Amino acid sequence: MKIILTGIQPSGALHLGNYFGAMKPAIEMQSQYQAVYFIADYHALTSVTKADDLRRFTFDVAAGFLACGLDPQRTILFRQSDVPQVHELAWLLSVVTPMGLLERAHSYKDKIAQGAETNHGLFAYPVLMAGDILLYNSDLVPVGKDQKQHLEIARDIAQKFNDRFGPVFKLPEPVIREATAIVPGVDGRKMSKSYGNTIPLFGEEKEIKKPIMSIKTDSTPIEQPKVIEGTVLGQLMQAVNPDEYKNFVTYGATPGVGYGDLKKKLLAEILAHFQPFQEKYRHYQAHPDEVEAILRDGASRARALAAPVLAAARKATGLSK
Ligand code: TRP
Repeated sequence: MKIILTGIQPSGALHLGNYFGAMKPAIEMQSQYQAVYFIADYHALTSVTKADDLRRFTFDVAAGFLACGLDPQRTILFRQSDVPQVHELAWLLSVVTPMGLLERAHSYKDKIAQGAETNHGLFAYPVLMAGDILLYNSDLVPVGKDQKQHLEIARDIAQKFNDRFGPVFKLPEPVIREATAIVPGVDGRKMSKSYGNTIPLFGEEKEIKKPIMSIKTDSTPIEQPKVIEGTVLGQLMQAVNPDEYKNFVTYGATPGVGYGDLKKKLLAEILAHFQPFQEKYRHYQAHPDEVEAILRDGASRARALAAPVLAAARKATGLSK
């Protein structure tokens, strides 16, 4: 069975963009492949600066995946930092990584352009990511478009290592999710924590309601029909309940129906759709030991995958016999 691997950064509360963009497709793929999913807490340290935040976000990502249907029997779910061997591999990779390759990384350049403090962690981020990908022998790596270049870098590094030390690494195939999977945030841009335009996946009704009510709409008067197609409201409805979309369009075109009514309808759909997940999520929040046990078991299975790969890399470099 092919190995499909991806990492999820625990950098904030999970939102609908995370769910439709990454979690749902990842969970759907667990039956076709050996899925290896980890919570990239080492990577998150480049942006999360409070220990309690990192612990909470990490736990919440695990609980969220489990609540949304990740099957921990089948899928290996673990915390990146529970397999610190990835750093040894990252070092072996860093000696074949040209500076220029990292200097050209968009995400690094963007951070600099935003005036972020630069540090070695941000710079070396793609090397650690290559470590994640290569350590577990992955065949396929699904990521969003923003991570495409990081995957190309990982392949480049793997190739360079193999050229210098011999054929140790399998070159992984990227699986890039295109823009169609992008869920708009309340302001119409891609839903993203960094834009502050998210709708939370889990939370009290009022926490979900507030951003929905703030969705930007035009000033079509209440008695005139509203065009739903292509709007934020429409796109969200399409993501949440495609079967209801047509009715939603018709409802919007009904004179006298205002944007407030449409937002309430969307809210009701979202609450109904995620209610079973909410319940499971609350269960895991109330039983953190269950989540912890799953993550530990995942880490031990991940270590078993990693051990022969790391041994081969150590041998190829001359660190061991
Ligand atoms: N950098 C990825 C992101 O921000 C997370 C990540 C870390 C990852 N390691 C990975 C994704 C390995 C795929 C494979 O989305």
